[in-house]
Amino acid sequence: MASSGTSTPKTPETPVVTQAAPSPEPVPDELAISGAVITTENKGQSLFEQSCGRCHKLPDPAAYTKEEWVPIVQNMRFRARLTVDEGNQVYDYVASLAKS
Ligand code: HEC
Repeated sequence: MASSGTSTPKTPETPVVTQAAPSPEPVPDELAISGAVITTENKGQSLFEQSCGRCHKLPDPAAYTKEEWVPIVQNMRFRARLTVDEGNQVYDYVASLAKS
């Protein structure tokens, strides 16, 4: 509780600067159709599940090809109010499960 006596004068010299959430990595400004390395698959999946089932049933990623998903995600990204970055992650997710 109430402690008396020597209080070590901690000088709060450390600047209290909270980083204003910089985007961690540069993201291309377009949807890429290079189904190369997908590191954001989990993020894409949760974004997809959270954002894409609000207005209609969650679409089945396997219902479309990767190529078909490009304009769909571009369009739906705006509706779901996702950033380009998030849209790319959703795209990577659906493209990883897309029909061939
Ligand atoms: C704000 C509401 C809204 C949100 C959020 C939304 N959609 Fe849609 N979506 C629609 C509407 C409305 C349609 C009917 C087609 C149209 O009007 O373009 C549609 C249609 C679709 C279709 C069918 C397209 C076609 O050509 O057959 C797919 C697939 C789809 N959405 C995927 C998604 C995905 C993926 C997301 C998340 C990124 C998403 N939607 C988020 C409203 C929404």
